[in-house]
Amino acid sequence: MQLKNDLLLRAAKGEKVERTPVWLMRQAGRILPEYRAVRESVSGFIELAQTPELAAEVTIQPVDILDVDAAIIFSDILVIPEAMGLPYEMVEKRGPWFPETIKSEADLKKIRIADGVDDLNYVIDAIKITKKALNGRVPLIGFAGAPWTIFAYMIEGSGSKTFSKARAMLYTQQKFSHRLLKMITDSTINYLKAQIAAGADLIQIFDSWAGILPPDHYQEFSLKYISQICDAITEVPKTVFAKGAFFARKEMGALNCETIGLDWNMGIAESRELIGDLKTLQGNLDPAALYGSPKEVEAATKRMMDQFKGSRHIANLGHGVYPDIDPEMVKVFIETVKNYR
Ligand code: CP3
Repeated sequence: MQLKNDLLLRAAKGEKVERTPVWLMRQAGRILPEYRAVRESVSGFIELAQTPELAAEVTIQPVDILDVDAAIIFSDILVIPEAMGLPYEMVEKRGPWFPETIKSEADLKKIRIADGVDDLNYVIDAIKITKKALNGRVPLIGFAGAPWTIFAYMIEGSGSKTFSKARAMLYTQQKFSHRLLKMITDSTINYLKAQIAAGADLIQIFDSWAGILPPDHYQEFSLKYISQICDAITEVPKTVFAKGAFFARKEMGALNCETIGLDWNMGIAESRELIGDLKTLQGNLDPAALYGSPKEVEAATKRMMDQFKGSRHIANLGHGVYPDIDPEMVKVFIETVKNYR
């Protein structure tokens, strides 16, 4: 199916665009009352994510309501541990929780490499339904967590300020860590290939906990596996967003991907310098800027756009939009990008 708006894909590939495309990480979610209404019709996040018709509906909401240049499939990065045999729960107001975690080499027998099609058929079905309903209006982004971030949740069992259990493993059980990271990597490649076969037009890898590793561990335990994923996925453009990995920007410039996501701590000129001219940069307005008045949001967005001007860019925030942001301010952000010349 021919896309009517392919700005995102052209910007990712470094082709000419009439204007900068814009979308928001976590756009399909709690900022929209329309999302909350659908969410309240089911038992919770997991049932919503596992009901393809509803997942497709909330995926398309931000396209209809906010007029973004891309949809991102409604799911979560934690579907991978679940497909590997480690189910999660989403605890209201507290986030993800795993009743069982991986503690040692022996626990690897409890899990398996996931097959993207059979183990995650609800996401694959949601992608197919979404693609059909979008009818080529905008590209659909598929995604997965980076192996290190998934590893961190599988070891820790929940969110954590320090992820100290997961980080300890990298010192005390290196061989085991690599074995688990490799299993996650292979599962993720299967999963992303299935998403692409179902219709995903671009994929993004979220390394949300990149910033808690020292640079040498980041190379050895995270970037190495992200690089394997980038090399394995050749069908569509790839974006790597490694939150907090300011220290690895030079190496990210050498990844086999089209776009690097920047968080809001990363200076734009400095990032371009380190990453080079051969990648598109995505980001990176501070999500807190959207707490401002319409005038302040517009000014902050323009300042960001000024700094990216003249180079390959996809506009976004520097991390996911916060749940208590007024959707009207999200619209001001989007309109300011669209009207920017
Ligand atoms: O971007 C989108 O709109 C698509 C959907 C999406 C969700 N999670 C839905 C979701 C995406 C891309 C994710 C990715 C994700 N999930 C990441 C990486 C991005 C990032 O923010 O760093 C991470 C670390 C997770 C794990 C996760 N899922 C946490 C920590 C939480 C709880 C805290 C929070 O942010 O809500 C979730 C829950 C979650 N994932 C919700 C949504 C809409 C909220 C659940 C609800 O409706 O109550």
